[in-house]
Amino acid sequence: MTNDDWSKLVDTTDEWITTRTGIKERHFAAPDQATSDLVVEAAKLAVKDARVDYDEIEVIIVGTVGADNAYPSTGNWVQKKLGLKPIPSFDISAACSSFLYGLILGDSLIKAGIANTILVSSAEIMSRIINWEDRNTCVLFGDGAGAAVLRGSSGEEGILSSCWGADGNLGDLLVQPAGGSAMPASAETVAKKLHSVHMKGNEVFKHAVRRMEESAITAIKRANLTSKDIDLFIPHQANYRIIDATIRRAKIPLEKTYISIDKTANMSGATIPVAIDMARQEGRIKPGDNVLTSAFGAGFTWAGLVIKF
Ligand code: ACO
Repeated sequence: MTNDDWSKLVDTTDEWITTRTGIKERHFAAPDQATSDLVVEAAKLAVKDARVDYDEIEVIIVGTVGADNAYPSTGNWVQKKLGLKPIPSFDISAACSSFLYGLILGDSLIKAGIANTILVSSAEIMSRIINWEDRNTCVLFGDGAGAAVLRGSSGEEGILSSCWGADGNLGDLLVQPAGGSAMPASAETVAKKLHSVHMKGNEVFKHAVRRMEESAITAIKRANLTSKDIDLFIPHQANYRIIDATIRRAKIPLEKTYISIDKTANMSGATIPVAIDMARQEGRIKPGDNVLTSAFGAGFTWAGLVIKF
């Protein structure tokens, strides 16, 4: 769906969206697809790429704010749809930071000896939870899914460092107010469009820049590296101006920064794994590269990782 497509539905223009956000187009799931269907497609590609068998997977972690149902978890549906054994499968809710939270959790399970092969995925169907009449938010998001197979290794590759955090005091700045225990669904909540994204964009912008910079710098330091050692930075893609401000503050050159927001918009937690895959397919990541990634999202939540490929 292009910016021009949106301009036929709400009072906006390609020029406004492009200059304010860097977004040119986004992809929306088909009406008969649920979040778990997107995870299954991404998982199949990841399993093939990792050259593992499905029955080697010991845990499924899915990051999403748009689960198929309130319960069971999307992870449970993925287990069923992939025909896997009765392994632990569950969701984590960390919005745009959910893939990085999932990697940190999966890495910790491996290092603790609890499991050795873990499917980590993040997926969102944002088109189902945006207010299609609110130009302030609807144009910013896309749908998608990404997945990775994590596996214990004695080699040099893998997650070199990580950091993560959250500040629930700022939760009201980016929230889907209704549909949970605090505000159960009613005719009134539907009429008032409280089941969609509510956001104070300017505030989110400021915190995103600060936390993404901080996460990037902390992850680099914890890996005992400097920013010169980073071969590619893959930031969360919410707004090109957030990325630009973050790299200026963290002193990371634009040439070493991967930008995919023009093609995908903000797919919340799915953004980073999809961007990693796009960068690999374009040859921007080579074996031995140090890839830095950092994310920020509703909660507020944030995280940073350095991964050696
Ligand atoms: N088309 C045209 N005009 C618009 C649109 C639109 N789609 N959306 C808002 N406007 C108008 C506003 O109504 C406002 O008009 P007014 O001055 O007459 O009231 C004007 O544009 C300026 O609005 P601002 O909010 O000041 O615009 P800003 O430059 O801050 O950009 C934006 C808004 C893009 C939302 C920005 O604040 C942003 O990206 N914030 C980060 C939010 C985000 O990405 N959240 C995603 C989830 S969190 C995450 O992933 C990090």
